[in-house]
Amino acid sequence: MENVIQSIAEVCGYIWQKGWGERNGGNLTVNLTEFFTSDVLAGEQHPLGVTLPHIAGQYFYVKGTQKRMRDLAHKPMENGCIIRITDDGTAYKAVGEYVPPTSELPSHLMVQDYLQHTGSAYKATLHTHPIELVALSHHRALLDDSVRPNRLTHTLWSMIPETLAFAPLGIGIVPYQVPGSVELAQETLSKIRDYDVVLWEKHGVFAVGQDIMDAFDQVDVLNKAARIYLDALTYTAAHPDSEPEGMTDKAMQDVQRIFNLPKQRPC
Ligand code: 13P
Ligand code: ZN
Repeated sequence: MENVIQSIAEVCGYIWQKGWGERNGGNLTVNLTEFFTSDVLAGEQHPLGVTLPHIAGQYFYVKGTQKRMRDLAHKPMENGCIIRITDDGTAYKAVGEYVPPTSELPSHLMVQDYLQHTGSAYKATLHTHPIELVALSHHRALLDDSVRPNRLTHTLWSMIPETLAFAPLGIGIVPYQVPGSVELAQETLSKIRDYDVVLWEKHGVFAVGQDIMDAFDQVDVLNKAARIYLDALTYTAAHPDSEPEGMTDKAMQDVQRIFNLPKQRPC
């Protein structure tokens, strides 16, 4: 378990260095159940407000609300805590020191519940504020699927072959909702069935992965493509007759074939 906590701290350090974690921005959970023998705990019970039957009795590391990624990078157990979901799936208790969990707990735990329900091996959920992806989420034309389905995904895939290779499910769009709300969690849940990374319009991204590094990597790859796209557009600003070309559909099909990419989340 020490290694898992260590890699959570490492990822939080990267997020801070990238400028994605201003103040307390961003949060995460990692399923730690494999390291515990199920035990009913003493101590205060905190209601979830929903019933999550598939993670009943399971254990999670959770970032604390108002805690900073840059602090978590050095002191993970002071800026987050381990919780156990009660056996009826309606509440949680802290294992050891209690740090009030992130305000985005509804999204994280509803998605963790879904992952367990589907028998997925994915253990990590990550919410962060990557600058370039959030910038693109302000452009309605890129989010509008009526022009071309999955327009933003195709734009990002077409920047460099690695984007398609390492983020083969692309990016889903979650319309703006109040941070921390159950509505945001429900919209996230409906999109995360098809994508490993979803864009919370005008706010950030929410990603799932086999572990926290995997979730971070997918966001990093997609954000790199967003940055290249925005950099290419600065040239267009000076030379209005020159649009970023993007890889051709044929070039992208070749990448898909050569890497034998999955069209759905592997278990
Ligand atoms: P927390 O400090 O509650 O984790 O909130 C940060 C955030 O990014 C909310 O969307
Ligand atoms: Zn946020």
